[in-house]
Amino acid sequence: MSKQIFVLNGPNLNLLGTREPDIYGHTTLAELKAMCESRAKSRGLEIFFEQSNSEAQILDWIHQAIDGADGIIINPAAFTHTSVAILDALNNVKSPIIELHISNPHKRESFRHVSYVTAAATGLIAGLGVNGYVVAIDAMADMLAAK
Ligand code: DQA
Repeated sequence: MSKQIFVLNGPNLNLLGTREPDIYGHTTLAELKAMCESRAKSRGLEIFFEQSNSEAQILDWIHQAIDGADGIIINPAAFTHTSVAILDALNNVKSPIIELHISNPHKRESFRHVSYVTAAATGLIAGLGVNGYVVAIDAMADMLAAK
């Protein structure tokens, strides 16, 4: 049976493509989803790719991943900098977690320099644009193959 990874995206990422394109680029969320599906397929992984503006929904998906996913790639977006609840949820996940940011938050405003999520993450990818998702899927596939 092939392994399944969750790729979870937080608030405002539904606006990708038109949202501050100088920071986040021109790729839409639908295009990003297609990119991720194609890379996951080529690496033999099943993928559950979702975005929500609701913290509660993201928490529910993380809870679903506790028993239902072999790995999580998560771009918590602004919740990165605010959400103890997402950290607490991720602390229940035994499989690898990659925290991902399209931009490099450390080059930006100081409130973006704090991540509540990093403490639960196996690894962190930031500043590579949407290509970071492809890098994350490859890294996740390599980690899962090595298990
Ligand atoms: C982001 C960085 C966050 O600071 C910001 O709030 C986002 C997106 C990124 O992908 O670069 O919404 O997570």
